[in-house]
Amino acid sequence: MADAPARKRPDKLTRRQLSRLGELALAAYNRERRKWHANLGPLRTPQLKALHEDLWDIFDSNDHDGDKVKGGMAIDAFPGLGKTTAVLAFARKLHRRTIQEEGKYTDEGHERWPVCRVGLTSNTGMRDFNRAILEYYGHPGRFTGNTADFGYRALDSVLSAETKLLIVDDLHFLKWRNKNGVEVSNHFKYIANEFPVTLLLVGVGLENRGLFDEGGSYEDAVLAQTGRRTTRLDMDPFLITSEEGRLDWRNTLLAIEERLVLADNRPGMIADDLSDYLFARSTGHIGSLMTLINRGCQRAVRTGAERLDQNLLDQVKNDAASEKAREELTQALAAGRLVSRPTRTSA
Ligand SMILES: Nc1ncnc2c1ncn2[C@@H]1O[C@H](COP(=O)(O)OP(=O)(O)OP(=O)(O)O)[C@@H](O)[C@H]1O
Ligand SMILES: [Mg+2]
Repeated sequence: MADAPARKRPDKLTRRQLSRLGELALAAYNRERRKWHANLGPLRTPQLKALHEDLWDIFDSNDHDGDKVKGGMAIDAFPGLGKTTAVLAFARKLHRRTIQEEGKYTDEGHERWPVCRVGLTSNTGMRDFNRAILEYYGHPGRFTGNTADFGYRALDSVLSAETKLLIVDDLHFLKWRNKNGVEVSNHFKYIANEFPVTLLLVGVGLENRGLFDEGGSYEDAVLAQTGRRTTRLDMDPFLITSEEGRLDWRNTLLAIEERLVLADNRPGMIADDLSDYLFARSTGHIGSLMTLINRGCQRAVRTGAERLDQNLLDQVKNDAASEKAREELTQALAAGRLVSRPTRTSA
């Protein structure tokens, strides 16, 4: 992923050029566009940019020598706000920067892997967690062993590859034995102490699971240690209650508009005409917005509509959470109680 070249955007053809394509050429062109529209992004949204700045600050500040424990980071935000997308984009940049500065191989001749990323699946225990790290490195000893064996091997892989950042995505899937997650917290404390990496935890509702709690009891004190060392970052949906928020929303729509490859796409098709509509249907969540755009484009290509409008998008289904919130927002926007477009359009 880190070395993959950027995807090539298909040429934008006019309707006339489309009609001149033979059947096979048209099918090939549409296939290219299907793939393109299914992979728009990542867009440099303000949320993504702000998160990256914070991640760089913390990551770079951890570059101290010796065995000083490194400060961790935790991104705790609702689903569909682009956590995974932003983190992967960051990981890619970090990988490339490190390889460029320090070379493809370590001094000992191992391949350098600056980032390790594990995604958890439901009810991962500590042993599976350690095993997932081995799986990432393709370690030959990933099949048999107990939690501790896997832990040592994982440490060995991290040291050989000189990994600097350990990303744990969907942390909420980890089995939290007791409600306050002392065991989890201890495990990450162990990693923070023993592994020379910066930990980046990503998940939903980490705060409620007590990852950052501080309190009076012994267990609270153990947790507090993780809490103290971990900086909490979040990601917000788009908000249109301020002029600044409306500008961000509009700039994002303009960026999307600019990427679409539809014959009848014209400036303003999305950013002007569909601003309210898309806000109501996505409730400002990037995940829902991109799903809707992607599906709309697939339909526009398939049916020959070659443009996005309310009529077409009305036929496209979106995720359940957005559909539920849609009604209320639509009414507020229609009644003018809420406005999604900025009054100044500086873009
Ligand atoms: N900056 C972006 N540009 C374009 N598309 C994005 C961006 N951020 C997120 N998306 C799209 O939104 C969808 C959801 O994003 P993502 O999976 O990163 O969210 P998440 O916060 O990790 O969600 P979850 O909590 O469910 O894991 C993805 O399909 C992705 O394509
Ligand atoms: Mg995710």
